[in-house]
Amino acid sequence: MLEGARDYPLDKAQLYPLLHTELQALVEGVPQPIPNLANASALLWQGLKNVNWAGFYLMDGGRLVLGPFQGKPACIYIPVGKGVCGTAVEQGHTLRVDNVHEFPGHIACDTASNSEIVIPIRDGERIVGVLDIDSPVPARFDSEDQEGLEGIVRILERACVWP
Ligand code: SME
Repeated sequence: MLEGARDYPLDKAQLYPLLHTELQALVEGVPQPIPNLANASALLWQGLKNVNWAGFYLMDGGRLVLGPFQGKPACIYIPVGKGVCGTAVEQGHTLRVDNVHEFPGHIACDTASNSEIVIPIRDGERIVGVLDIDSPVPARFDSEDQEGLEGIVRILERACVWP
């Protein structure tokens, strides 16, 4: 597989501050969500080891609709309350799933996925979408990943003017 342009640190304490700095530079002066989410998914794809899908779903007409991502083609519509993504929207907080096969109603877009993290994106109180990352490695995402990825979402929330 084609590797990223350069190696990112394996140490999460170094990796996430670097990703935050790079994302902050990429979104500077760009209020449109689509280019910012596209660059964020590309950055996460380059920087994170052992992930097979990294991208976004956006709220549209009361349901989640597929947004910019890296990985295999994915399902387009996810109702609120369905799958890990729709459940994270319904519950209004980050969901870290160590084994997706044990999550009731998990939507398998890529059969290689074994663990997943979904983080709601907010405009004020309103949830406008989610960041969704899948891994073939069980329990790939720990609290340090959660904190680092929530930092990614905070940068996007501040940078974008949401529809
Ligand atoms: N697994 C997600 C569906 C989206 S794919 O992972 C890209 C879910 O259960 O909501």
